[in-house]
Amino acid sequence: MQKLSADIFRVGVIDRQIDLFEGMYAVPEGVTYNSYVIKDEKTAVIDSVDGAFGCEWLKNIETVLNGTKPDYLIVQHMEPDHSACVAEFVKKYPDAAVIGNRNTFVMMEEFFGKDIAPNRITVKDGEQLSLGKHTLKFVFAPMVHWPEVMVTYETETKTLFSADAFGRFGADDNAEWMDEARRYYIGIVGKYGVQVKGALKKISEYEIKAVAPLHGPCLTGKALNEAMRAYLLWSDYKPESDRGTLIAFTSVYGHTAAAARMLADELEKRGEQVKVLDLARDDWAECVAQAFRFPKLVLATTTYNADVFPAAREFIDRLTERNYKNRTVAFIDNGTWSPVAAKIMRAKFEKCANIKFAETEVIIRSALNGQSIAKVKALADELITL
Ligand code: FEO
Repeated sequence: MQKLSADIFRVGVIDRQIDLFEGMYAVPEGVTYNSYVIKDEKTAVIDSVDGAFGCEWLKNIETVLNGTKPDYLIVQHMEPDHSACVAEFVKKYPDAAVIGNRNTFVMMEEFFGKDIAPNRITVKDGEQLSLGKHTLKFVFAPMVHWPEVMVTYETETKTLFSADAFGRFGADDNAEWMDEARRYYIGIVGKYGVQVKGALKKISEYEIKAVAPLHGPCLTGKALNEAMRAYLLWSDYKPESDRGTLIAFTSVYGHTAAAARMLADELEKRGEQVKVLDLARDDWAECVAQAFRFPKLVLATTTYNADVFPAAREFIDRLTERNYKNRTVAFIDNGTWSPVAAKIMRAKFEKCANIKFAETEVIIRSALNGQSIAKVKALADELITL
């Protein structure tokens, strides 16, 4: 538990046991499911937690309420990592009203069946609720990350309860924010940049002194400014800086890896910031996040079954399904007898908006030789100018 202000408490839980978040994202440092209590003349609880932690969450609420009862449960997001314990809450506090929007209650009935929350208040976008000195404004943020999502602005402390937005993986609040926030955002919400941008525009009307997300630490001051800047860039599909290259490779016997590392050395000699990741071994969500971080991407892979090596093919799918755009892309293709991977990869990226291709294409026949080494160097020369 954490006291955020005189009346606002963080009452969520830490999950260190989870193997895969949403069944697909590795979270070796765990994840938090945040929930909040605002105590006033009326008391509101914001969101619940994952189903494995209902008892702990209700106990946390009980401790903060110190013998009093909550008046409202605000359901900002119906994804089960936040809504799984709504039924337990209603059972324990049947007099409390459950607040959501029309879509919230449709999903609630889908997940839990009818009549889980007979005592309900259905709010509209922009509607307000006074708790006493704290007034809450509900701002709909559809597709950040599901259609029913709304965020809640609290006027007294100027806190934005931001649902999934501004969240990050990792249970340690003191850990660095950016890398795990980027991996979380690009992985989970990356496809919905337009909607995130829309939500950012809506909340820009409010003075925000603190952001209280559903995962990760609450943000204030410099950390909040950095997070806002990152969200503006990410939602606009812009890289975080003007320079920098991700070299993402696969390698069957080490020869393509050698070419990827040679290119990295050549780029670094020319002053470029470079990150090299192995698509078959490094965390896939990190590979995707780093591709969105940098303005340039080099894919070094093999032709395999007259197509692209599977890990590279999946990587491209994961980029394109998240609306990868506004970047420079280059290819290194290793094909022992009939290299076609570069051509196939290029066709996939041609469907993305605003992709510029390097003119230099490196084709390796099995292993680097004088000719392909010269091409790697030429690619480094070209990339540095793009
Ligand atoms: Fe953290 Fe979209 O749920």
